[in-house]
Amino acid sequence: MKLPFQIDLSGKVAVVTGAGGVLCSEMAKALAACGAKVALVGRTLENVQRVADEITADGGVARAYQGNVLDRAGMEAVAEQVKNELGLTDILINGAGGNNPKATTDKEYYEPGDIDAETKSFFDLDTESVKMVFDLNFTGTLIPTQVFAAQMVERGGNIINVSSMNAFTPLTKIPAYSGAKAAISNFTQWLAVHFSRVGIRVNAIAPGFFSTKQNAKLLWNEDGTPTARTAKILAATPMGRFGTADELTGALLYLVSNEAAGFVTGVVIPVDGGFNAYSGV
Ligand SMILES: NC(=O)c1ccc[n+]([C@@H]2O[C@H](COP(=O)([O-])OP(=O)(O)OC[C@H]3O[C@@H](n4cnc5c(N)ncnc54)[C@H](O)[C@@H]3O)[C@@H](O)[C@H]2O)c1
Repeated sequence: MKLPFQIDLSGKVAVVTGAGGVLCSEMAKALAACGAKVALVGRTLENVQRVADEITADGGVARAYQGNVLDRAGMEAVAEQVKNELGLTDILINGAGGNNPKATTDKEYYEPGDIDAETKSFFDLDTESVKMVFDLNFTGTLIPTQVFAAQMVERGGNIINVSSMNAFTPLTKIPAYSGAKAAISNFTQWLAVHFSRVGIRVNAIAPGFFSTKQNAKLLWNEDGTPTARTAKILAATPMGRFGTADELTGALLYLVSNEAAGFVTGVVIPVDGGFNAYSGV
């Protein structure tokens, strides 16, 4: 794999949750290419196994583990296995996350009558689905952090959370996902302070817009043409395009490198083609 620059992670163990997904599989590959032994954790074993096989074929060290980030006992079992098979965890990437269509409104703006119309308005947001989104993104970062950081408190370590543009300013239609990612940015700062005396740095990456499975329905029509939302996103991204997964690698390697970022903790780095800097005018 081609890296923007090389850092030395040999002897380190990196755990990546959501590693079967588009963005975090790329992160896992980058860490492995820098010499880390990578534990890929995901809900669906086939997905993480496929990525582990790719890393192994490329000469890296990787193991796939089935695990739900919301299942504490399951995460503890995975942590024990990782410890036995690869060693104690040095790096944790909290990548698992996502949205739920039932926690999303159909329209950007409420209009008179929507409350009674067929359209899914704010008033139709499904409470259970909203809770699910907060759980997956926030609790799904909290539990793996409790489980894996327990192995770091005596030896130091590195935690990277995955936030989003919607954490800085909410995006239309996705109130739960925006709130949950705002909680991730906030939690990143909290954890950074909390662990600052024991050598654990905690930072986050806030990806801008990347076309992935998770947001495919919002970005592309069934016939493959761009949705109106895609046009809006590209107009609001000064660089005028979606990012590609490999464009997160530079920020990731910088943050996990103790040589490059040894005094950096509690930051949320946007990788967004200028989206967060642009007022729209
Ligand atoms: N795609 C984007 O534009 C974008 C932008 C900002 C932030 N993000 C965030 O980046 C991260 C990766 O997203 P992605 O776009 O690669 O999405 P993705 O859907 O491709 O990957 C997410 C992965 O998380 C796994 N997962 C979901 N629930 C899980 C659970 N309970 N336990 C374990 N694994 C679980 C999924 O199986 C999937 O493999 C997410 O946190 C997402 O919120 C994505």
